[in-house]
Amino acid sequence: MTKKIRTAVFPVAGLGTRFLPATKSIPKEMLPLVDRPLIQYAIDEARAAGITEFIFVTARGKSALEDYFDRAPELERALEAKGATDLLAEVRNATMPSGAIAYIRQHEALGLGHAVWCARRLLGERPFAVILADDVIAGDTPCLRQMVDAYEAAGGGCMMAVMDVPASQVSSYGILKVAEDQGDLVRAAGLVEKPSPEDAPSNVAVIGRYILTPEVLNSLGQKKPGAGGEIQLTDAIAEQIGAGLPVHGYRFRGQRYDCGSKAGLLRATVAFALARDDLSEDFAGYLRQLAREDLTVGW
Ligand code: UTP
Repeated sequence: MTKKIRTAVFPVAGLGTRFLPATKSIPKEMLPLVDRPLIQYAIDEARAAGITEFIFVTARGKSALEDYFDRAPELERALEAKGATDLLAEVRNATMPSGAIAYIRQHEALGLGHAVWCARRLLGERPFAVILADDVIAGDTPCLRQMVDAYEAAGGGCMMAVMDVPASQVSSYGILKVAEDQGDLVRAAGLVEKPSPEDAPSNVAVIGRYILTPEVLNSLGQKKPGAGGEIQLTDAIAEQIGAGLPVHGYRFRGQRYDCGSKAGLLRATVAFALARDDLSEDFAGYLRQLAREDLTVGW
């Protein structure tokens, strides 16, 4: 029987340069998608997948994240006094029970792989999930829930969420070399980080959800820099394939928004606003007006 996935790592120590100057003082993961920060969507997805232990890999300037998950007694009292029960529930949903959340620092942004390695002492010998909060995935069943189910059915190993991307985009992703394509599950024969379109072994791209075994942490411990001089998570996962361990891509059902890019966050904002009962009518009207006026309306 596979070990249950109870712990998730949230690497939030990146510099977030694509959102400067905002990210000079606001962590990228605190940018709002409508009215909830990106990290809240990630936490909700983790909870829906049965995660009970949350590890944040943070850095200097990220204290807004710690405050976000703390209790806010004055705010709660004020909302209670006003009878604002819906807002109160939202605020309480953002509070973590004592001991459920741990913060570890990455002292230098040496790459995603290095960030995950920083959490090693808290992870021990159990498999764990990794969630990148800037990949927001909308779907009927939350992406990590789908993956945990697929992981249990596959009997363990490493698993990455994957999606097919156009050849022009492969250089932005980790790309799978495919051993066997079974539709939902794709067994990997190798992984290449950010290849040029000519060198890409497929168009099956890794996005920000992973289920990993503790062996990956040993590989990361060798601290070998990869593409862009960063310590890459995909390189450490590729080493598991080399060692004969099963590594799968999982084609999730849902729509992924790359909220680490400005265009992606804007698209997600439109999609999530249109899906909201309290906003959709007005907002759709505004978008129709924009389209009629050839999208030239400014402010
Ligand atoms: P990105 O590649 O999006 O980098 O990291 P970034 O620094 O966040 O943003 P840009 O590219 O400068 O705009 C992917 C994920 O890995 C984390 C980030 O916080 C993000 O969740 N990360 C990256 C770390 O925690 N540490 C690192 O050294 C690098």
